[in-house]
Formats: sequence, C-alpha cells, structure tokens
Amino acid sequence: MTEKIEKLIQLARLAPSVHNTQPWRVLVKDNTLNVSVHEPSVLDHGDPTLRELWLSVGCFMYCLEQISPECGLQLTPLETQTSNLSSVVCTYTIKQIEPTAPKISILLQTRRSDRRLYAKDPLSKKNKSLLQSLICPEGTAVSVVDDKVILAKAASLTATGLRMAFSMPDFRKELSDLIIATNSRQNTGLYYYALNRTRVGGWMEKLSIRTGINTQKLVQNDYDRILNSSALVFILSDGDTPKYWTSAGKTYMAASIKIEDLGLAQSTTAALVEAGDLHEEIENLIGTKNRIQAVIRIGTPRHNGRPKRTPRLSVSEIST
Ligand SMILES: Cc1cc2nc3c(=O)[nH]c(=O)nc-3n(C[C@H](O)[C@H](O)[C@H](O)COP(=O)(O)O)c2cc1C
Repeated sequence: MTEKIEKLIQLARLAPSVHNTQPWRVLVKDNTLNVSVHEPSVLDHGDPTLRELWLSVGCFMYCLEQISPECGLQLTPLETQTSNLSSVVCTYTIKQIEPTAPKISILLQTRRSDRRLYAKDPLSKKNKSLLQSLICPEGTAVSVVDDKVILAKAASLTATGLRMAFSMPDFRKELSDLIIATNSRQNTGLYYYALNRTRVGGWMEKLSIRTGINTQKLVQNDYDRILNSSALVFILSDGDTPKYWTSAGKTYMAASIKIEDLGLAQSTTAALVEAGDLHEEIENLIGTKNRIQAVIRIGTPRHNGRPKRTPRLSVSEIST
C-alpha cells in the first residue's frame, strides 16, 4: 500500500457509524480500492433492515471520495452495488494527482458526537441557509428544522421510539454488549465517556439497558437533548432501499462535516427513523414526501471542552 493510500484510509476510517461498529472493510490491489461490508458488524436487532449499516458505509465512502484529492489521489468509482452484502460494494480506480489543500480531512479529525445538553441558542439564519444549501447526492436532501413545535414533537416521538426499542430484550442485550468500559482496549463500540458517563455511570447505563430497569431515565435524557437543541438536521431520500441509504449516508457525512465547519456540536439518534411509522408524523409536519433516513441534532454545548474521540479500528484491522 502506498503512503498516500495509507493516509487516505487512515483518515476515512474516522467516519461515524451506527454505535461505532465501523462495518466497512477495504482491499487495495494494484490501482484499485474495494470497499466491502463487514458482515459480523450487522446489528440483528437494532438494525434489522440494515438501513443504519448502509448509512454508515455511505459515510465511509463519502470520506474516501472527498478526502482523496487532499491526499493526492483521484478515486473514480467503477460500479456500486448494495444488493448483496457479501460482494464488493464499490471498486474505485486510483490515480495520482497533485494534492489539494486539506480542509475536509481537518474537519473530519475534529468532528465527533457530543451527547451533552446544548444551550438552546437559536440557529442563525446564515448557518441555517448554509446547511440547507448543501450539495447532496442525487435522490437525497437535507432539511434543517428549528421550529420549536416540531422539535418538541420529534423529542416526544424519539422517546416513544426508544420505549418501543427498550421493550425488546434482544435489542437491549445487543445494545448493552456494545457499551464498553473506559479501561477496555476494544476499537469498536460505545465507550462510557462517549455517552458522557463516568466509570460507575457507564456501568449503570449498561446494566439498565441490559435489564430494562430504569430505562425511562435514558428515554428522558434523549427527550431533553432534542428539546434543548438549536435545530434538527433531517437527512431525506426519495426512496427507501439500500441504494438510497448509502447515498443518504454520504449526505449525512456532508452535513456532519459542514456542522463541524460551522463550529456547532452534533449528535445523532436513530430511534425516530427506525421505530415503526413514527417518522411519518415528522415527514408530514415538515411537508416532505421523502423518507427521513437520519436525524442530527445541532447546537452549542452548555459547557466548555469537547468529548474525547471514540477509538477506531486501525488501517490493518479494516484491510482485508
Ligand atoms: C447511521 C448512524 C446512526 C447512529 N445512531 C445513533 C444513535 O441512535 N444514538 C447515538 O447516540 N448515536 C448514534 N450515532 C452516532 C455514533 O454512535 C457515532 O458516530 C460513533 O459512535 C462514532 O463516534 P463519533 O461520532 O464521536 O466519531 C449514529 C451514527 C450513524 C452514522
């Protein structure tokens, strides 16, 4: 692997993914780079349709595509397939070019989920229109909503979605297994500190999810987080199949990088997207015929400092 390709993968692996599962693998051979799915990363109970997996793979592909010029590489996708989980998703041909100035790669290295409460500051008109005017892959769009009535509805539907999820023991077991103690050496999953928890608090949250006892507190936390956001960024798509989910993942990543560029904090919650038909109520309220694929809440944290970065798999761990 050349130094430039190694640098590219080193950066792209910082892409966000559902519960930090990092469900992507790469194979570099001659002048090609293959992206495939790591099937053991599938969340049978949290992501039965695989929507969240394909969104995550889309985030990773966006990073590869957008950061490659900054690494002195041109990546050209030959073909993308999302119908077979075991086959290569995309083969890129690689060409050497003059590197462009680093921009997206810098923002990718500083971005992270911030699950703290935000300050309820209004979103400026300028930031709203900058986010709203993002260039999105075909079939996808971004809708930025700062209307307090819609935020309150989204908070309440998210709470309903979480209650539905927490009522399923298999879902709870799968999620609690992904919550990792701070002294662990694992490179996937959600560390206590990423969830804003101390060693004891993290252990209690894991236990609460595992047993289903006191999950109402966790539901309330997510409700409060949305209610205290400046706005919600909805990632929308025309269709609702893996092809659209991958494109929506690219749009999610473009929005996430822009949010970081604007100096705003961000975090995601999939409950509204995944639980039953709850998303339809918000789609009606925001007046779209498109399907909501992801929700990013944005705002200014109430406290200084930033959460610690969640670990990622190394380049060799994601290389097949
Ligand atoms: C498709 C997708 C779905 C996600 N769903 C959730 C979620 O339901 N709840 C949550 O707290 N974080 C969610 N996240 C955030 C991830 O947990 C987070 O990106 C990952 O742990 C890596 O951490 P980082 O964002 O700080 O880099 C999601 C991220 C993606 C890309």
